Amino acid sequence: MLWRESPMALWVSPMTQSPDPLVERARAAALGAYAPYSRFSVGCAIESADGEIAVGANMENACYRLGVCAEIAALTAAQQAFGLGRIKRIAVAGGHVENGALAGEMVCTPCGGCRQAIYEAACLSGADIEILCANGGGENVEATRIYELLPKGFGPENLKDSG
Ligand code: THU
Repeated sequence: MLWRESPMALWVSPMTQSPDPLVERARAAALGAYAPYSRFSVGCAIESADGEIAVGANMENACYRLGVCAEIAALTAAQQAFGLGRIKRIAVAGGHVENGALAGEMVCTPCGGCRQAIYEAACLSGADIEILCANGGGENVEATRIYELLPKGFGPENLKDSG
């Protein structure tokens, strides 16, 4: 259910209290994307248990398959800033840039490879990680968790018999 909140004239979801500041950080990060081929900009903001934030955006390449997703860029920054094992929440926002802002209707969920990378971080902390998936405009936000996006995932535990 949605309701209109005045005076901002903004549609907000009661379930996720959009705009969550972490979603706004992800939307802002998307403006730093390098996405000349797909023209689809993605931003990711990662929050630690202590409230620190690391961000990243997708970076494409003329050799298409070498492109890097926003989540991987942000996870790399998070590892440097506070460690993968301290991640509490992740916001992802994707769309196209219009008049200097991220726009678009459809919420952006992490791709399969990024789910695997987030799963690794969740295994380190032993806690499920909340993921906010937002559309470009930031009005539509779907809250989910990594164990919901990637059930029965393959993680460090699966390697314990590797000798
Ligand atoms: N992309 C991401 O950055 N994260 C995702 O989870 C989905 C896709 C990027 C990759 C590529 O640069 C563009 O979006 C279009 O696929």
